[in-house]
Amino acid sequence: MAHLFNRNVVLGVCGGIAAYKAAFLVRELQARGADVRVIMTRGAEAFITPLTLQALSTHPVHRDLLDEEAERGMGHIELARWADLLLIAPATADCLARLAAGRADDLLTTVALATAAPVLVAPAMNQQMWADAATAANMATLEARGIHRVGPADGDQACGEVGTGRMSEPAAIAERAAGLFEHGALAGLRVVITAGPTREALDPVRYLSNHSSGKMGFALAAACADAGARTTLVSGPVTLETPPHVARTDVESAREMLEASLALLPACDIFIACAAVADYRPEHAADDKIKKSEERLSLTLVRNPDIVATVAAADPRPFTVGFAAETRDLLAYARGKLERKGLDLVVANDVSAEGIGFNSDDNAVTLLWAGGEAPLPRSGKGSLARLIVQHIAERYSASRAGL
Ligand code: C5P
Repeated sequence: MAHLFNRNVVLGVCGGIAAYKAAFLVRELQARGADVRVIMTRGAEAFITPLTLQALSTHPVHRDLLDEEAERGMGHIELARWADLLLIAPATADCLARLAAGRADDLLTTVALATAAPVLVAPAMNQQMWADAATAANMATLEARGIHRVGPADGDQACGEVGTGRMSEPAAIAERAAGLFEHGALAGLRVVITAGPTREALDPVRYLSNHSSGKMGFALAAACADAGARTTLVSGPVTLETPPHVARTDVESAREMLEASLALLPACDIFIACAAVADYRPEHAADDKIKKSEERLSLTLVRNPDIVATVAAADPRPFTVGFAAETRDLLAYARGKLERKGLDLVVANDVSAEGIGFNSDDNAVTLLWAGGEAPLPRSGKGSLARLIVQHIAERYSASRAGL
């Protein structure tokens, strides 16, 4: 089964009898890992209630283009940006016609125009309407523009006729949606990714650590696996689910993370250091719990090994990618890190900016390598991870070709 882990799906539901199947479709998409938000047209509300789809999707259903309240929450442009996929199911003959004409006279068609995400339609209508030359021409126009289609299927129709026009079954639609994201930019390669924080023990019950959630590293692992790589996460303590098709080694301290990473190096083509490794650890971890008998307590900290620099200095070495989180002079510091640590690529992110970076859902980064740099747009960690992986695949191929 293909998956939709980390994918945001906007499901557009139009007014046809198959709209009742949208409830099952939400479930099928979620079962494959997607976060689903629903847009309903006015016609859809005649067949299924917004409350049903709200309860199943766990998000308010989006219904109006010009609704001040809704625009204050997630407006049409944000919804269009949020989507990794716009899936329209059922897509009626009228909806196909309006999409083909480029109309933007309701929320669904406006989001369809405003999104850069792929669009998949699951047509559903009377067999004669599907066979009509106007519908065929509209569908051909949409497909020529790169819009994907699943179905319609053959069989009995609600109107009593038999023919082609039934909406495909929800499981088949979800499978097709998931299949749209499978590609092979890293096919056959082995990727190791460090993620999350490390914990440096003070005594048996206390430690020094940081607020890293591990989300970025886990999103990168999912994106690498999607790109066909055999992917292993070396993860500090986090509360995240392991992405599908990703192997995982759990560690606590920086030294354990280094050891686990070095053990994986003989089978590693690309190493991505995304972990927020503690720079220092207590020189001695007390054997027993430290008592609060003293007014002042001093700790002596010693430097931890630099994992990514150690990996980059190995022989043979994998293509090595590091992160640079900075609050000022981002690009200068990041380029310094590229050179000092001997990296092939640095992902630089400004952690001083509001709402992005450390422990948040959004991120905006610039990629730097010896011969250039590329700023990537601000987006959710899932889509950003996929963009980063695309660039890593390109830089990896260029480095192997000696470019
Ligand atoms: O030196 P700085 O901590 O800013 O570098 C960040 C990059 O180095 C990240 O890729 C991080 O995962 C990696 N790193 C490491 N081992 C350390 C410290 C940082 O691998 N001890």
